[in-house]
Amino acid sequence: MCGIVGYVGARPVQGLLLAGLEKLEYRGYDSAGLSVLNGDGVDSVRAVGNLQALRDAVAQTARAAVADGGAAVALAEPSTGIGHTRWATHGRVSERNAHPHEDEAGRIHIVVNGIVENYIVLKRELEASGVTFTSETDAEVIAHVIARHYDGDLPAAVRAAYGELVGHFAFVAMAADEPGVLVGVRRECPLVVGRGEGEQFLASAVPAFLEHTRRVQFIEDGELVVLRPGGVEFMSPAGEPIEREVVEIDWDAETAEKGGYETFMLKEIHEQADAVAETVADRTARGDGVDLGDLGTIDDAFLRELRRIVVVACGTSYHAGLIGRYAIEGWARVPVEMDIASEYRYRDPVVGPGDLVIGISQSGETADTLAAMRLARARGATVLAITNVMGSQATRDADGVLFTRAGLEIGVAATKTFVSQVAAMYLFALRLAELRGTLEPARLSELVGELKRLPHLIAEMLDGDDEAIKAVAERHHQAEFFLYLGRHIGLPVALEGALKLKEISYIATDAYAAGEMKHGPIALLDEATPVVCVATESPVLDKVVSNMQEVRVRGAHVIAVASDGDEEIGEHADELLRVPRTDWMLAPLLAVIPLQLLAYHVARLRGLNVDQPRNLAKTVTVE
Ligand code: F6R
Repeated sequence: MCGIVGYVGARPVQGLLLAGLEKLEYRGYDSAGLSVLNGDGVDSVRAVGNLQALRDAVAQTARAAVADGGAAVALAEPSTGIGHTRWATHGRVSERNAHPHEDEAGRIHIVVNGIVENYIVLKRELEASGVTFTSETDAEVIAHVIARHYDGDLPAAVRAAYGELVGHFAFVAMAADEPGVLVGVRRECPLVVGRGEGEQFLASAVPAFLEHTRRVQFIEDGELVVLRPGGVEFMSPAGEPIEREVVEIDWDAETAEKGGYETFMLKEIHEQADAVAETVADRTARGDGVDLGDLGTIDDAFLRELRRIVVVACGTSYHAGLIGRYAIEGWARVPVEMDIASEYRYRDPVVGPGDLVIGISQSGETADTLAAMRLARARGATVLAITNVMGSQATRDADGVLFTRAGLEIGVAATKTFVSQVAAMYLFALRLAELRGTLEPARLSELVGELKRLPHLIAEMLDGDDEAIKAVAERHHQAEFFLYLGRHIGLPVALEGALKLKEISYIATDAYAAGEMKHGPIALLDEATPVVCVATESPVLDKVVSNMQEVRVRGAHVIAVASDGDEEIGEHADELLRVPRTDWMLAPLLAVIPLQLLAYHVARLRGLNVDQPRNLAKTVTVE
């Protein structure tokens, strides 16, 4: 996830871009850059590090220009520029991989947020025609494809390029020969126009230009915009004009940073379709299998031969691992052992060569997970890190890394990083199954297809209203205790739902394997107990329904998470939270969402700060 900003108008553009990028730093900050049209070409500066590093690099470039006898900044008129703050997903953190990227002649510059899924095919094609690439990113391909179509008309070249790009992204392009023109494109990644008087802005999010204008135009998916100082044209990829109203927003700076949501947590819950899409997209581009890319020294031969997998993690990441265990065992038939990292590290585990230990950690800095990974490695096991943060310690303590690409998560309670971890585990399980030949090819492509469909199902759910969830929250927000039940893949969802509720609402929760309830927790049930049952379609649904009946006869209140179209389930629950149908093994990615929202609404009704719950830290670097 990255931040994009663009400007056309009469004011000096560098300062505006830097100030805009500063407001987008919350989207990620491992490198940054900007390109500005000067009298006859483009000045482009990129730097690794936070924005101060870019500011310093810009100042140094200006000083060097003056020393050479030139002006500090020789701007074109009207002034035109684009800027970018990067949070690396493809390609390591380096100046070469920072944006803007440009074509070979340095005439077309672009900044991109998102992923070009077919970049490998396009890159091969371009290289075969003699184009030299200078970065390891998927984004650079866009500049070259636009250049291939460019004959002095940037909007036309971008439209032609758009037709060749597969993926989900937003980008802004600028051409050295067309001062005063920016072309923006949005496909499933955010991009919004800010309308000024004789000047226009384009950015990933409103905060980038909020201090200059509150008049915005929202770009819909699959639309292009052409910005000139005097106005903005919206168009379809075929070039047909589109009318778009200008909306006056009344957000304050903080609300704008939260994208109009009342909290970061809610914003991040709503970013989950994107998080899963980013994690899955190019890795499933082939359609009939999974490409995990570079896993360091973990090669296909090892994955074919390994004898056992051990997953170590903490908290929410542990729950993602539990879901992964069902997928790996079910699809790839490899035995998986799970442990909480703080337990594993002290239990003198039997582990060694031929074992793969997977450490899951969104931050990549959790002390217990790192210690468990190091211990396993010291005993000869091969270690794979699944993390959301490039350059984190986990990436250095592992033989290979599989990155989740959820973007920066600010809310302390993990939401979008959880779904992207689950998606990464599914990808890994499918790849193993492919390599070991444990799934029929038709079944493998069916699952890959369904995994690719999930971001759309998640978006559909989140775009719908959440009145049913709010009603459940209203009814139970004063309860003193919630029990969560699930079986098989429903169990980790129940565990995660219970953790979300307890950490942000401070209500005591327990989560149990539904079949275990009668061995103890059933004693807790009375008429005041809300019992959340994960009852999506699965081979064990009948068993879950029996457990729901056991709960109800004790007078407790059943809140069931159920698949769309399952009419019978209503007879066994007091309240239903519906999720779309999908392959039953993938259902956790959908089923967890109403539980995150339930926890969220309960905590808000209790007047709590969900972004920073008491006693919790986003990264736990101590034992
Ligand atoms: C809960 C939560 C924590 C983390 C745990 C591990 O919402 O965020 O339980 O999952 O502290 O953190 P990472 O994944 O960074 O290792």
